Amino acid sequence: MTLEGRDLISIFDFSDQELEAVFTLADEMSQHTRGNLGLADGLIMCTLFYEPSTRTRLSFEAAMQRLGGGVISVADAGATSVAKGETIADTVRIVESYADLIVIRNPYDGSAKVAADFAGVPVINAGDGTHEHPTQTLLDLYTIRRAKGKLKDLSVALVGDLRYGRTVHSLAFGLARLGAKITLISPPGLEMPAHLLARLESEFRCRPEQYRSLTEIVPLPRGRRPNKQQAWAEEVLSQFEVFYMTRVQKERFDTEALYQQATAAYGEVPEALRRARTDALVMHPLPRVEEIPQDFDRDPRALYFRQAAYGLPVRMALVAALLGRRTTRVRKARPGDYKPAPRHEVDFRKLSPVRCPNPRCVTNHETYLAPQFNFLPYAPGLIACAYCEHETPVPVGVEALG
Ligand code: NCD
Repeated sequence: MTLEGRDLISIFDFSDQELEAVFTLADEMSQHTRGNLGLADGLIMCTLFYEPSTRTRLSFEAAMQRLGGGVISVADAGATSVAKGETIADTVRIVESYADLIVIRNPYDGSAKVAADFAGVPVINAGDGTHEHPTQTLLDLYTIRRAKGKLKDLSVALVGDLRYGRTVHSLAFGLARLGAKITLISPPGLEMPAHLLARLESEFRCRPEQYRSLTEIVPLPRGRRPNKQQAWAEEVLSQFEVFYMTRVQKERFDTEALYQQATAAYGEVPEALRRARTDALVMHPLPRVEEIPQDFDRDPRALYFRQAAYGLPVRMALVAALLGRRTTRVRKARPGDYKPAPRHEVDFRKLSPVRCPNPRCVTNHETYLAPQFNFLPYAPGLIACAYCEHETPVPVGVEALG
């Protein structure tokens, strides 16, 4: 089995064995993060970024150049015909004739799927709105695996903006799939969306504990002797082997007041991190804003810069595999491996299609796209948008296609 020619739009696109194969290849690539490996001679990657980025775009471009390939880049979509109203579909149909691989970041949920549907070359999702960021998850899982040697049964706290943060959406599924135990800690209003919680529960029997803030678990000491509540809090805190911190996604808020309200809850996070167990890992996809103070950087538990550095070998491995320039040895499936339940597409031929209820969904912005929905194997009364996965009740009279 090979990954040549495949897209990576969602963390669900790769099987457990394929994830392992990418990690094994990343181990090898981590020996070649300087110089030119000469594997991608004559090939070109196009990075098409409609949103700001430092690490993701630069590490993809560095990865391609370390592999020996070339890069063409749109770092500011305002400077392209997108500003004149060009669609994603038209843009990628042009780009595919110049490049062998497209890496796209776009503010609309589900936009990377549109690129993959219209491009004849492999497409990698580098972040589609609030939906997913699967390559960040590859490097996050790789980092944990390297630091802890395992993912199974590891206790991981996902902290921060779990509503709009696409990194934690992909990561929660990656962790649950590989057997880690997750806890969700998010300010009121920024909890993980219900449809993601439903999928975690039904597909992975994962029902995470939820807290409003790290300070809810760890009330600051008022006196010298910990009271009962504090003793309990210390016990909860000491369970976490990984803290995955995230920034409140300011650009997704409708008003500054809502943003201020959400960030207020971060108050005493640094104190909580300092009181974490000594072998805990503190991670962050970066950029950080106020979640982790600079003076924590020297703490041996701070792993975020190493995590960002692993973006290079992981993306080298992914790109080499999708371009077919490196054979990935994918092992045969074993009984415990995750297998997605089949989803059946809704047939709208006899009815007018419903529109996706998510205002950020790409289908509500690029209106040439026909809405597409799938029946959910675990929620008989609901259908999910095939682009952004938001759910809506099954309209009367619809059937499955095929
Ligand atoms: C993240 C993103 O863009 O989603 N950044 C990244 O890719 N490392 C996280 C963020 O912007 O908060």
